[in-house]
Amino acid sequence: MPVTTNVALGVGGGIAAYKAAELARALMERGFSVQVLMTRSAEEFVRPLTFAALTGRKVLTHLFGAVSPEDTLDSAIEHIRVAQENQILVIAPATADLLAKLAHGMADDFLTTTYLAFTGPVVLAPAMNTNMWNHAATQENLRILRARGHVIVEPDEGILACGIVGPGRLAEPEVIAQAVSEVALSGANRASAKRDLEGETVLITAGPTQEPLDPVRYLSNRSSGKMGYALAEAASERGARVILVSGPVTLAAPALSSGIELIPVRTAVEMRQAVMDHLEQATLVIKAAAVADYHRANPPQQKVKKTAARLSLELDPTPDILAEVGRKKGDRLLVGFAAETENLIEEARRKMQSKNCDMVVANLVSQPGIGFDSDENEVTLVLRTGETIPVERASKSAIAHRIFDEMIKLRLALHSAQ
Ligand code: PMT
Repeated sequence: MPVTTNVALGVGGGIAAYKAAELARALMERGFSVQVLMTRSAEEFVRPLTFAALTGRKVLTHLFGAVSPEDTLDSAIEHIRVAQENQILVIAPATADLLAKLAHGMADDFLTTTYLAFTGPVVLAPAMNTNMWNHAATQENLRILRARGHVIVEPDEGILACGIVGPGRLAEPEVIAQAVSEVALSGANRASAKRDLEGETVLITAGPTQEPLDPVRYLSNRSSGKMGYALAEAASERGARVILVSGPVTLAAPALSSGIELIPVRTAVEMRQAVMDHLEQATLVIKAAAVADYHRANPPQQKVKKTAARLSLELDPTPDILAEVGRKKGDRLLVGFAAETENLIEEARRKMQSKNCDMVVANLVSQPGIGFDSDENEVTLVLRTGETIPVERASKSAIAHRIFDEMIKLRLALHSAQ
């Protein structure tokens, strides 16, 4: 962690705004330097002077509050300076209105403008009336913000100012400060370990395959590619060379600057060929794609005409790419996935053994909000060492980084056991 981590503390306009003063103090006691930004409505609850006295720094309240033309220019770009000078952005209390603005990229004051200009980790501590907290709109905004990788410090349950009992009370300042410390530490760790995949070549499969039934129809599944693309981006961030074999997805291709080599394929047969063509170069292989298990070996050249009679299709098994890679693995680390609706761990362990994987990432795809086409996932890592590691629900990006964290540890464990 750098000598002093600078934290921008955004204060929203809620009855709990007064607790932000305790939070500012708790952060400073942990060695953070704190720059306070307030929304106009926050000033109705706590005077900026309170924070200025606490932090010894000017409190930034709104975008254009200057007197002279020069000051106007300074204040107009000051949110950029704040976004650049701080390593972590914390918003407490984060009101329902603020959460909505952040989720949808609105920027009509200093705090929301700074948020859009900020590229580092964000910690949000919501506080509001229980009914507002439970409202579908608020929960949808929180889902968007979680999927963006922001840390949400869940509100406490209890008697709220409005007299209702339930969730919505701002978490205790010490709890929020601890969450900020953990973000700072993990950020510092990642900063130092960020290049921990340098020199590796990671071969990743992602997305569905499409198996033609005739020239206009095909068999496929609901894979969006998000899990595989998140793995590719995480590996690239950490210094690896990445070869991404992708079935047909609507995701944007990785930025050219990422250096990720994208190989688009359509069918399981094409995916197999692409994997085998690049296997030699790979040191790590991760098979996140939802490969069709069956296909029509020789689809007709003409569209099948509709009749009143039942249509029966004979489908043949597709090539089992994971099993074939398992046979040719060598000293590569091989990670398979298991998309199950029951018997998750048993099925994952069976796949790990039968396909010679070192790790299987098991996800219960019947669970709402995770798995296919979701922004988040919840997995259990089943390792060749016999260990099973549950990974709680998080963004697919966070899950991807955790998978790499555990792959690096696993390879060390396997090599030292040799
Ligand atoms: O793409 P998203 O929308 O983000 O969804 C993510 C996901 C749910 C697709 C992903 O997390 C996941 O579970 N991927 C594996 C899906 C799958 O096909 O699971 P499976 O249990 O049917 O296959 C087991 C393993 O064998 C997988 O690694 C698969 O890539 C591989 N396989 C399967 C069939 C086949 N013919 N060849 C293979 O290599």
